[in-house]
Amino acid sequence: MRTVTAESITKAFIDYIEPETNPRTRFVLESMVKHLHDFVRETGLTHDEWRKGLELLQKTGEITTPERNEFVLMSDVLGLSSLVDMVNSPDDGTPSSVLGPFHILGAPDLAVGGDMKQNNDGATIIVQGKVSDPDGKPISGAEIEIWQTAENGLYSNQDTKQEEYNLRGHMTVSDDGVYKFTTVRPAPYTVPDDGPVGELLHATGRHPWRPSHLHFIITAPGFRSLVTEVFPSDDPYLDQDAVFGVREKLVMEYVEQTDKSAIPTGLEIGQNVTMPFFTVDFDFILARQ
Ligand code: BEZ
Ligand code: FE
Repeated sequence: MRTVTAESITKAFIDYIEPETNPRTRFVLESMVKHLHDFVRETGLTHDEWRKGLELLQKTGEITTPERNEFVLMSDVLGLSSLVDMVNSPDDGTPSSVLGPFHILGAPDLAVGGDMKQNNDGATIIVQGKVSDPDGKPISGAEIEIWQTAENGLYSNQDTKQEEYNLRGHMTVSDDGVYKFTTVRPAPYTVPDDGPVGELLHATGRHPWRPSHLHFIITAPGFRSLVTEVFPSDDPYLDQDAVFGVREKLVMEYVEQTDKSAIPTGLEIGQNVTMPFFTVDFDFILARQ
């Protein structure tokens, strides 16, 4: 008879794993269970607390639909998604950051210099920069997907008043790696807090706000795909992002412009910019595969 104790239960779990088990599966599972068991031993977790934890997971499952994945959001507010991003981010490329739940496939093509703002209210921003390799060589033909909130802090797929692909675009950079577009200055917004994730946030006195940002996915053959976002330096939530997405290298400056001479050439809207407008320069580096 094997007597399992609070100390030996972790080894007992490990001994149950079949020798033929995939080595990486074994490694990850063993480590996860060691940490879980240590967590219970360290906290002296009570039955009541254990039950509450399971109930939270149950509610997370119940509210999850194809349109709303509360498990991903739970992982986001716990810092888990960002930590996975960070441990997998290459040192020689632009850091990655959370994808979030509002990306949709099929964004319309936007030429370099194209106008994503269209009829959206709000201040115009002109965003431009280069996509290059870690040695600074432009990556001709890199593909960029961009998506963002409107001035009301909502994405098109959260707001029935917006067109399906409002403030979304797909651009192929020019031969010299340049991307450029006009859009509206996005607003900070809250992650959904009407479910179990909200319960967790409220129970710990946390707010659900994210700093405003522009999302990007950048791909090019031979390079690691980059899923990231960039944040303005003056955003009030920069230091308290509910999902821990901010990295120093992802912070950009909105430079307020009051003179049309600051408008770059090659914009679809030409000189047709309402005052004041803002310019943003941000370069991306893709790490090699
Ligand atoms: C977003 O940036 O769209 C987002 C990321 C994580 C959770 C909720 C929203
Ligand atoms: Fe977002």
